[in-house]
Amino acid sequence: MLDLLEIPAEVVDPVPGVPLPEAPPALSVEEISYSYREGAEPALSDVSFTVEAGSTVALVGATGSGKTTTAKLLARLADPAHGRILVGGIDLRDIAPDSLRERLGMVPQDGLLFDTSVAENVALGRPGATAAEVRAAFTDLGLDTWLDDLPRGGDTQVGERGENLSMGERQLVALARAYLAAPMCLILDEATSSVDPATDVRLTRAMRRLAAGRTTITIAHRLATAEQADEILVLDRGRLVERGSHAHLVAADGVYARLHASWLDVTATGAAAVG
Ligand SMILES: Nc1ncnc2c1ncn2[C@@H]1O[C@H](COP(=O)(O)OP(=O)(O)OP(=O)(O)O)[C@@H](O)[C@H]1O
Ligand SMILES: [Mg+2]
Repeated sequence: MLDLLEIPAEVVDPVPGVPLPEAPPALSVEEISYSYREGAEPALSDVSFTVEAGSTVALVGATGSGKTTTAKLLARLADPAHGRILVGGIDLRDIAPDSLRERLGMVPQDGLLFDTSVAENVALGRPGATAAEVRAAFTDLGLDTWLDDLPRGGDTQVGERGENLSMGERQLVALARAYLAAPMCLILDEATSSVDPATDVRLTRAMRRLAAGRTTITIAHRLATAEQADEILVLDRGRLVERGSHAHLVAADGVYARLHASWLDVTATGAAAVG
C-alpha cells in the first residue's frame, strides 16, 4: 500500500489554476510526444496541429496509430513527455481542474456506461438534471424515437458496462450525456465496432448536432464522420502525416486515400450483407 502511495501522480493539478473562458476555445497542439512505457516505441512523436475555435476536426488513422492517445492528452488524462497543448491560449497544465472538467468533455470509445437506467446514465452529465432535461437532450439530438422504442424507454436498464445495448447504442447514450454537460470543447472517440445502418444514421445526426457551436475533435472510424469535418488530420504510427479536406486528401492519393478505399470496401461488404 505504501509503495503504491509513493508512485508520483502522472498529472499534477495546478493550484489554483487559470479558468477557461465561457466560449469555444481554439486548440493548439505543439510538437507533442508520448510513450506508454520507457523504451517502448512512442505512441505519438512530434505531433502538431491547430483547431479553430468552434470548428470540427476529424482524426483518422489505422488501428494503433495514436488517435485515442491524442484524445487522452487533449483531455489531460496524461501529460505529453515533450511539447505542449494550448486550450484558448492557455497551457493545459495551467488550467484549473474544475474549469477543465466543466468546459472540456470527452465521449470515450466504449461509451463508459454504469449499471443503471438509460436516463440515469444521461443525467450523470449534469448533476441535478431533471427528467425533462434528460428527455430534451434526446429530442435535441434527434434520438427521441430511439429512446421510445427501447423496452422501457428511459427506464431501460443498460446492464453491466452497458451490455444490454449495442456498442453504437452505448455511444448514443454517451452523446446525450455529453450534450447535457454542454462543454465548450468536445472530444469524441467513435466506437470502433461496425454499427447497423439505423444506428449509423442516428449516430451521424446526433454527433453533428452535438458538435454545433463547440470546438470538436472527432476520432472518426466511420467514413461519413470524416467527410463532414471542417478538416481531417491523418495519423500514421504516431505521426501526423496528412491534413486537409476530404476531397483534397482523396486526390493526394496518400495514407487517407488508402484508408478511404478500404472503408468503401468494408461499407460495400456490410451493405451487401444487410441487403
Ligand atoms: N494503456 C496502454 N499501455 C501501453 N500501450 C498502449 C496503451 N494504450 C495504447 N497503447 C499503444 O499506443 C499506440 C497507440 O494506441 P492508440 O490507442 O492511441 O491507437 P488508436 O489510433 O486509438 O487505435 P484504435 O483505432 O484501435 O482505437 C499503440 O501502439 C498501442 O498499442
Ligand atoms: Mg482508439
